[in-house]
Amino acid sequence: MHWFKLVFTDNFTRTFKLASSIDKMSSKIQKIAVFTSGGDAPGMNACIRAVTRGGIHHGLEVVGIHNGYNGMIDGEYAVLQSYQVGNIIRRGGTILKTARSERFRTKKGMAKAHAALKKHGIEAVVAIGGDGTFSGANEFTDKYEIPFIGIPATIDNDMFGTDNTIGYDTALNTVVEAVDKIRDTADAHNRLFIVEVMGKDAGFIALRSGIAVGAEAVLVPETDTHVDSLLALLAKGWKSKRTGWVVMVAEGDDAGGAFKIAEQVKEKFGHFDIRVSVLGHQQRGGAPTCMDRVLATRLGVGAIEGILEGRSKVMVGIVNNEILYTDFSKATKHHKEINKHLLELTRILS
Ligand code: F6P
Repeated sequence: MHWFKLVFTDNFTRTFKLASSIDKMSSKIQKIAVFTSGGDAPGMNACIRAVTRGGIHHGLEVVGIHNGYNGMIDGEYAVLQSYQVGNIIRRGGTILKTARSERFRTKKGMAKAHAALKKHGIEAVVAIGGDGTFSGANEFTDKYEIPFIGIPATIDNDMFGTDNTIGYDTALNTVVEAVDKIRDTADAHNRLFIVEVMGKDAGFIALRSGIAVGAEAVLVPETDTHVDSLLALLAKGWKSKRTGWVVMVAEGDDAGGAFKIAEQVKEKFGHFDIRVSVLGHQQRGGAPTCMDRVLATRLGVGAIEGILEGRSKVMVGIVNNEILYTDFSKATKHHKEINKHLLELTRILS
């Protein structure tokens, strides 16, 4: 393995590994598999491309498993050639399909998956997905010796061990585009719109997009929502003749989602003209943004390098612009904190 040293102007040095210099000869692994699992996220295809071509670059045979853990159990394996991942960097969804597998949670399912991986000569696995995907992988690798590396891909951005997950940036841009349009009609009719975005346990999408659209309030699962405070804010705005309102709410907010909040507001303020808009699954689709394509590419190659270095039971992430490997047990159990300062910003600027 080759190393080189960079000397920075502010007098600190860091040692970097040259991606192309990782020595395949030091690793016995010849054949790996890659699959996507859980809710899809824009950029999964870009990541499949990076894993495939990164693996081939290092002399590995790369096999795609279709339909997530279900396909792993059922033997849906096919070798990926470089040309097969051409031109997918810009496509939403996942060419390998995805699933949430109940069967893989069982002992029997895991044993079948192990037998199928062995039968196909797979020596290491790259799992592209979120929390549930890595919990499964963690349990599996406790029982069986095949190395697993995870790549975080979920629009929710709720993974510890990486600043951003694949798909988050694209989802944010989708939300901002949609809510800008909603804002036009909200202003035209002097209406209050309660916009619900995805995030059953996390408010990252609601918070960041809420700032970007200038939302009057942002409600997230990470903090207790007091509808009374929202009502007070609306009353204040009403007095100051504010027209057109947007309140962003994450689907998992403790106040119960957009429709429930709308009901409570209507009860107190019958004079408000309220509409609810649930953005739904459009947030999961579409061409990935530049940010997501680059993130997916770096993480895909980072996973291959991790395998060649002999790592297992880890998720590859990027923290402060550097590749970092976090144990599955930490990545799945630790909670990524929402930025309270950003939340405060929405209050100050409302
Ligand atoms: O991928 C995560 C997520 O988008 C959550 O925010 C959402 O609650 C969930 O998936 C919905 O997924 P599905 O419709 O696939 O059950």
